[in-house]
Amino acid sequence: MRHLLMILLVFAAVALPRAADAPRQLIAHRGASGYAPEHTEAAYRLAIEQKADFVEPDLAVSKDGVLICLHDDTLERTTNIAEVFKDRPSKPSDATESTRRPGPHWLANDFTVAEMKRLDAGTWRDPKFAGQKVLTFEEMIGIVRGHGGIYPELKSPPLYTARGVDMEKIFVDFVKKHGLDTAASMKTMPVIIQSFDWDTVKRVAGDLPAIPRVFLTSRDEDLTEARIRELAKFATGLAPEKDVLARHPEAVKIAHDLKLTVTCWTFRADEKTKYASVRDEMQHFLYDLGIDALFTNNPDQFPRRR
Ligand code: G3P
Ligand code: CA
Repeated sequence: MRHLLMILLVFAAVALPRAADAPRQLIAHRGASGYAPEHTEAAYRLAIEQKADFVEPDLAVSKDGVLICLHDDTLERTTNIAEVFKDRPSKPSDATESTRRPGPHWLANDFTVAEMKRLDAGTWRDPKFAGQKVLTFEEMIGIVRGHGGIYPELKSPPLYTARGVDMEKIFVDFVKKHGLDTAASMKTMPVIIQSFDWDTVKRVAGDLPAIPRVFLTSRDEDLTEARIRELAKFATGLAPEKDVLARHPEAVKIAHDLKLTVTCWTFRADEKTKYASVRDEMQHFLYDLGIDALFTNNPDQFPRRR
């Protein structure tokens, strides 16, 4: 019953002008990453416990072409790869934010799933999470299906294109193979696709028209009326970084008038802001600025209503 309600919510959010008191949606950012190591089973299960409407997996592609759940394009920040594969750092590159950081890097795309399964993805956060594994997208779906929706982000498609890997095609083939875009599947597990890559959002609009798709941005120039009009030609939602939206609150009405949802990121209890609490901050964005949904590390702090 709850999932039928969520299906209706997703499509209503896309189709109908939104009532001011329409339920807002909670997306667990990298799982409940405020309390457990991001993108692990522990973080995803806690997000479900904390009643997230959607759980976010950031996606990367392994050497053997498998979608895995990982924020960075590299493995050294959230696993012990520097120990386990110390003699196999990736060739230096300045392709993305992760690889521009100082020091050696281990690109996920240089390792197979079997090799990544040898890694510990929990101890970096806290020894009590020792033994948590790097998950494949398929394993993540196995955890979340029946408990909520998924909000996959296609991370750094140009990095893969430069390596001769078509991330968008791998994702589309996976969705079709598992029937994730069928009405029956979306009943138990709604899906919303997200990316910072404008062309990738445009491609999935054509390849997976049944699935809502959202454009992520941290650029002020993406919140102009002209740009939002351009976006509305193929996307179903706009997802600005919260401080960018705070500088352009008028973008919410512009987007809603164009039937686009507005989703902000990222709300964290461990971040110092002008608000007394992360709950107060979320309250302001949801019920004063009128956004439809948000990403948070702390699902248990989400204000369900004003
Ligand atoms: O995807 C929404 C938000 O998570 C974007 O930032 O770097 O955490 O993926 P990031
Ligand atoms: Ca993300």
